[in-house]
Amino acid sequence: MKAERIVILTGAGVSAESGVPTFRGPDGLWEGHRVEDVATPEAFAARPGVVQAFYDARRARLAEVAPNAAHDALARLDREWPGEFLLVTQNVDDLHERAGSRRLLHMHGELKSAWCLACGARSPWEGPLAGGPACPACGAKGRMRPDIVWFGEIPYHLDAIDQALAACDLFVAIGTSGLVYPAAGFVETARFAGAYCIEINLEPSDMASRFHEQRTGPAGRLVPELVEALLSARAAA
Ligand code: OAD
Repeated sequence: MKAERIVILTGAGVSAESGVPTFRGPDGLWEGHRVEDVATPEAFAARPGVVQAFYDARRARLAEVAPNAAHDALARLDREWPGEFLLVTQNVDDLHERAGSRRLLHMHGELKSAWCLACGARSPWEGPLAGGPACPACGAKGRMRPDIVWFGEIPYHLDAIDQALAACDLFVAIGTSGLVYPAAGFVETARFAGAYCIEINLEPSDMASRFHEQRTGPAGRLVPELVEALLSARAAA
């Protein structure tokens, strides 16, 4: 496999082996909550306390999980790959950056960021947002929301992602069900650009037929194998 410019897309499956529940698995994150009760701007307007508590709990749980072998391998690829490289994640956890990834974009926002609806500033955030803390930028109280892209909102960094996809020659989607757009459509953009497309997932996703190759199994085993093969091929070239 010859590659120069790589784009990787990750979803909840890459963090599953770290103990972060996926969205649509049997232990799904939405268990006990309907998506529309916690992941829409309408839900936040109607029941801000419920929504803040839901994301506060998820943010607090980050301290109990750690990057796994898949996160580590992707951070190694970022460090050692001399060509163009972009890791796009749909995940709102911080496991990619804790593993050491740098060329990384969070398209669905981040648990450890808070967005002030009074001044528009986005600030790094560790603790709870319930209780209406003051915005570090403008001091307004009770106006901060989780910096998460909810259903009906536009994902972040789409221009930069589109540019990278349009120029890549290898696209790899890891641990994503291929059900949520626009991420589910990235494989089409990459194919159109002439990229070789690989899917790594526990089971073939809804978009599996659009990839040139599927590798079925746990990301914690298959991602380190892929990274090793890419770096070895590069070293031998
Ligand atoms: P999903 O929960 O929809 O899909 C996770 C995928 O990972 C499934 O296809 C699983 O089979 C696979 N999987 C589980 N464990 C795995 C493992 N150990 N190794 C490899 N694959 C594994 O999660 P996403 O596709 O990330 O959006 O969901 C996309 C978006 O839907 C999320 O970002 C979120 C949600 O609504 C927003 O919050 C905006």
